[in-house]
Amino acid sequence: MVKILKSEICGEIVIGRNAINYLSRILNEIDPYKIGVVTSRSVATLWMKVLLENTKRSIDQIFVLPDGEEAKSLGNVIDLWRRLIYSKFTRKSLLISFGGGAICDVVGFVASTYMRGIGLINIPTTLLSQIDAAIGGKTGIDFEGKNIIGTFYPPNAVIVDPMFLETLPDDEFKSGMAEIIKYGIINNSNLLEKIESNLDRILVRDSRILEEIIQDCIRIKVNIVERDFKEKDLRMILNLSLIHI
Ligand code: GLY
Repeated sequence: MVKILKSEICGEIVIGRNAINYLSRILNEIDPYKIGVVTSRSVATLWMKVLLENTKRSIDQIFVLPDGEEAKSLGNVIDLWRRLIYSKFTRKSLLISFGGGAICDVVGFVASTYMRGIGLINIPTTLLSQIDAAIGGKTGIDFEGKNIIGTFYPPNAVIVDPMFLETLPDDEFKSGMAEIIKYGIINNSNLLEKIESNLDRILVRDSRILEEIIQDCIRIKVNIVERDFKEKDLRMILNLSLIHI
């Protein structure tokens, strides 16, 4: 079942099967002047049609970046800023980040810096980005090192739909699973037991169990980010750099 978490700091987060159906309602509420979608090559090929069917309004620009970390370059940021200017995006406009963690990071950065900040909706399409990069407002690009330049900028909304995981390559699914296990360790909850007792269903990507586990992980992350948005101490636990009891 779709769950909606409303967080002052993390924005509205809609999580569950068919969560993408909520996109048009969210866009109508924000009512942006212009809408741009930024995605990666592979996500554009696999899922752009589904996204466009769910916006129920016209999209002014679609920007396609390379897959993976290559998207997070200053060159791509400059290109996006320029294209937003030439397409007359105002401060009342909005970007939808549609892809994995790299897309989330770079689009968040562009949204936070263009005209001192425009609207942002994250629609993560990998397991890892659904439980990590899309949640909590960290943005970043790679410049003389990974994530050296970035901002803290919460999105207006995040839509997390396990449907997008159907086409995820095995390696990427496994790195998402590693992150889920990390949440189990951090939270000391029954999450690890849930994973163990549902392993068969998880491995065949049963969307019901994935939905439940993703909801658990996002709740854990939101709870931490709300207490330490700017990563002064507690939030470091998400990188297992500091263990709090
Ligand atoms: N990826 C860790 C954090 O969001 O703080």
